[in-house]
Amino acid sequence: MTWDALLAAALEARGHSHSPYSHFAVGAAVETASGAIFAGTNVENRSFGVTICAERSALVAAVSAGHRSFRAVAVVSSTSPPSPPCGLCRETMTEFCDPETPIGLFNLEGDRRVVALGELFPEPFRFPAGETLQT
Ligand code: THU
Repeated sequence: MTWDALLAAALEARGHSHSPYSHFAVGAAVETASGAIFAGTNVENRSFGVTICAERSALVAAVSAGHRSFRAVAVVSSTSPPSPPCGLCRETMTEFCDPETPIGLFNLEGDRRVVALGELFPEPFRFPAGETLQT
């Protein structure tokens, strides 16, 4: 696969980051199983815990449009080396992505690290086999 379109979408979304508290702008983009791309950025809040990260913004946008399966995720920020996703975002990715899904981490200098989701987050929470929550 090529990362160009995903990175471009993530960079564009990063330009819309609402991060007046951390001044740390992040962009993310996901590619659906059907090849569509959805992007998101971090949106902070004066009540800090309300903040949503770029990765979850992108996933929420895609799921809201009816997509539940993804074949790649790109994340871009200004750090060197490129910053990996936070724990909440890794957990969220495991809801919709296979462990083999490549997560592309980028920065503004052109550095790139591609890592499988299962490597970033090897033991996600799962319900015991065959069980769902009972009401
Ligand atoms: N942030 C992300 O958007 N993604 C991550 O994986 C880690 C952190 C955002 C949240 C907050 O707006 C800022 O970066 C600093 O934590």
